[in-house]
Amino acid sequence: AQKKVRAAIVSQEKLAEGIFSMWLDAPEMAEASRPGQFIAVYTNDPSKLLPRPISICEADKEKGRLRIVYRIAGAGTLEFSRYQAGDTLDIMGPLGNGFPLKDKKAFLIGGGIGIPPMLELAKNLECEKTAVLGYRDAETFLADEIGKYAEVVIASEDGSVGTKGNVIDAIRAGGLKADVIYACGPTPMLKALKAYAAENGIECWISLEEKMACGIGACLGCVCHSKDVDEHSNVKNKRVCKDGPVFLADEVEL
Ligand code: FES
Repeated sequence: AQKKVRAAIVSQEKLAEGIFSMWLDAPEMAEASRPGQFIAVYTNDPSKLLPRPISICEADKEKGRLRIVYRIAGAGTLEFSRYQAGDTLDIMGPLGNGFPLKDKKAFLIGGGIGIPPMLELAKNLECEKTAVLGYRDAETFLADEIGKYAEVVIASEDGSVGTKGNVIDAIRAGGLKADVIYACGPTPMLKALKAYAAENGIECWISLEEKMACGIGACLGCVCHSKDVDEHSNVKNKRVCKDGPVFLADEVEL
């Protein structure tokens, strides 16, 4: 069972407009975490009971610290951004399944706030790998850090850096190839990658983000449709928080 722990904030830093990076002192969770997993983060405001699911950006097992990088998307995350080093908050995790680590030439594809989990994945994958990162503009948060572990290719919507367009435009422009895709980002990006992977016969793992409540598979507030059917031909639902957030792209309807 997952337990909630009170964790101290080691540091907090703004990386780009609306994007923050926070290191938390959480030795057991850092030790147990795998790339692609997430934690549930609670605010200290009792009127906001539901935690926010935030993917793990880095786990420093030696120092016993976890890093999350998140975008301010509402009242809860706005409150997180105001906390400072020394403040404490409740977290639960690590949650979810994480990415399977394959020994194949890999694309690590992140779009926007789907980029952070690619840092821990890049650190842990010991194969030839290219990170393809999609940004809105020239604020290419985490690109340099990911670049320490993987070749980095950038796409930006406004064309101010890298290829103008999306991550698939950048893959095509660079004539890049891989045998497995790991991706996290907005649903339209994941849909496009699912189609691209099917066309090219590439194994494709995607991390889904859903509004989550309990985070541990109990409330069914996060289900998505899978390709599996039960004995009555009813579509089986999968819980993003517990069965995911990482799925084989073919397994789920987007
Ligand atoms: Fe409750 Fe997934 S958030 S089942």
